[in-house]
Amino acid sequence: MDFTGQAAIVTGGGRGIGRAIAEKLAQKGVHVAIADINPDEAIEAAASLTSLGVKAMGIKLDVSKAEEVKKVFEDVRKEFNKIDILVNNAGITKDTLLLRMKEEDWDSVMDINLKSVFLCSREAIKEMSQRRYGRIVNISSVAAFMGNPGQANYSASKAGIVGLTKTIAREYASRGITVNAVAPGFIQTAMTDILPEKVKEEVKKQIPLGGLGTVEDVANAVVFLASPDSGYITGQVIHVNGGMYM
Ligand code: NAI
Repeated sequence: MDFTGQAAIVTGGGRGIGRAIAEKLAQKGVHVAIADINPDEAIEAAASLTSLGVKAMGIKLDVSKAEEVKKVFEDVRKEFNKIDILVNNAGITKDTLLLRMKEEDWDSVMDINLKSVFLCSREAIKEMSQRRYGRIVNISSVAAFMGNPGQANYSASKAGIVGLTKTIAREYASRGITVNAVAPGFIQTAMTDILPEKVKEEVKKQIPLGGLGTVEDVANAVVFLASPDSGYITGQVIHVNGGMYM
C-alpha cells in the first residue's frame, strides 16, 4: 500500500475515529487536512502529524454548510495542489425515542451526517474527476443495517449514506474514482462513552468477537479503501463490528 505524497481530507478528524484515520494515513505518507467543527482539536491533531514527515493542516469546518465546504476544499487544494482521498467521517447523535424526537434533532442529524456527504463529495469529485483518480470513504454504521431504538434519525442518516455511496460509485467509476463505505459497530470513543454502563453490557453480549472495537480497527479498513490497492472495489460496505451484524 504505497500512497506516499497523496493528499487527503478527513472530516471530523479532530478526535475519535477520524483522528485515528488521519494518523494512519499520515503514517502511509499521505498529506492530511483535518476539517472539524472544533478548530482547536483539528489544529492540535494536525500538528501531531507533522512529526511523521507529511504536510498537515487543521481547519474549522461545519460539514453541513455548503459555502464553508466549498471554501475549505478550495483552501486544501491550494495547499496540497490536489485531493486524492476524502473520508466523510464527521457525525453526531441526538438519540431519543421517535415520539419524543424534535424536528430540529431530526434535521441536524440528517444535515451533519448525510447532507455533508453530498456536499463534501461534490467538491472533492470536481477535483478528482479532472485527474481521473480518487478515493472516497464514507463512515456509515451498524445502526443503518440493524436499526437501534432511540436512533431513528441516526440510523436513517447512516442508511442514506449507503445509497448515496452506491450512486456516486456508479456515477464516477468511469473517472477512476471509487466510493465505498465502512460501517463500524460499537467502537470505544466519546460517542459511545456517554452510553449507560447497562446498555454497553447488553451490546457486548451481541458481539461474537467480544468487547467494543477500537478506533484503529475502523481506521485499518478505511485506509485500505483509501489506498491505490483497493482500485477494483467500489460501491461496497465493509462492516467492522466484531460480527455483531453479518
Ligand atoms: P466523535 O464524537 O468522537 O467524533 C466526531 C467528530 O466529528 C468530532 O471531532 C466532532 O467535532 C466532529 N464534528 C461533529 N459535528 C461536525 C460538523 N458539523 N462539522 C465538522 N465536524 C463535526 O465520534 P466518533 O465515534 O469518532 O465517530 C466518527 C464517525 O463514526 C461518525 O460518523 C459516527 O457516526 C461513526 N460511527 C461511530 C461509531 C462508534 O461506536 N463510535 C459506530 C458507528 C459509526
